[in-house]
Amino acid sequence: MSRQPLVAGNWKLHGNKSMVRGLMDSILAAVAESDTTEVAVMPPYPFLAQVQELIAGAGATGVRLGAQNLSIHDEGAYTGEVSAGMLVEFGCQYVLTGHSERRALFGETDQMVADKFVAAQRAGLQPVLCLGETLEQREDGITEAVIGRQLDAVITQSGVAAFADAVVAYEPVWAIGTGKTASPEQAQEVHAFIRRTIADMDAKIAGSLRILYGGSVKPDNAADLFNQEDIDGGLIGGAALKATDFISICKAL
Ligand code: PGA
Repeated sequence: MSRQPLVAGNWKLHGNKSMVRGLMDSILAAVAESDTTEVAVMPPYPFLAQVQELIAGAGATGVRLGAQNLSIHDEGAYTGEVSAGMLVEFGCQYVLTGHSERRALFGETDQMVADKFVAAQRAGLQPVLCLGETLEQREDGITEAVIGRQLDAVITQSGVAAFADAVVAYEPVWAIGTGKTASPEQAQEVHAFIRRTIADMDAKIAGSLRILYGGSVKPDNAADLFNQEDIDGGLIGGAALKATDFISICKAL
């Protein structure tokens, strides 16, 4: 496969300075030299500077930094917001857009997600566009319709060419933090659908697009998921907070 695998750890609302130091020391010692798999960590905003320094101090070229959210605005009177340019200044290369928790708990619509995708790319960040259906939607048989709609919102706004500098993450909502992973076949089916949808517009971009799977990825199921043809890595939540688990998931690729 020509696509470089990526494992990204989404720490969500977790961490403190000493935990960050311990977790990063372990990750940096284990994966600093990896030249095949790209590893990214996505801590809460206040820890970006600390992680940036730890990565630089370790000379860890294979370890990247990402953020979990960003503002659609570059600057201005938007209290509490953080811009893409600020994230770049703190060493970020990736930023999540449209994580299902942002969609469900913070009211982010498809249009807002598309605007965040644009704001990220404007500053030179690679958006990691998260897509996923709820359990109800899956049971209603509308998984592809939901994923297609979420994807279309971004394609309509940015054009398919924008996916040359982006990553997609398929995260079924029912699998996030629940311990219920999609089976490798279920995940592969949706990944193939995403790639096909992009390929219908641009086969070259579809062929090089990295599509990550997220939702209860653990050391014991990572290899089976990553073996699927259209799964190019993982977006890891809970297991990203345990150094040994995260490292063994990275090594499963
Ligand atoms: P999980 O979270 O691995 O804890 O299921 C994944 C995510 O929300 O990105």
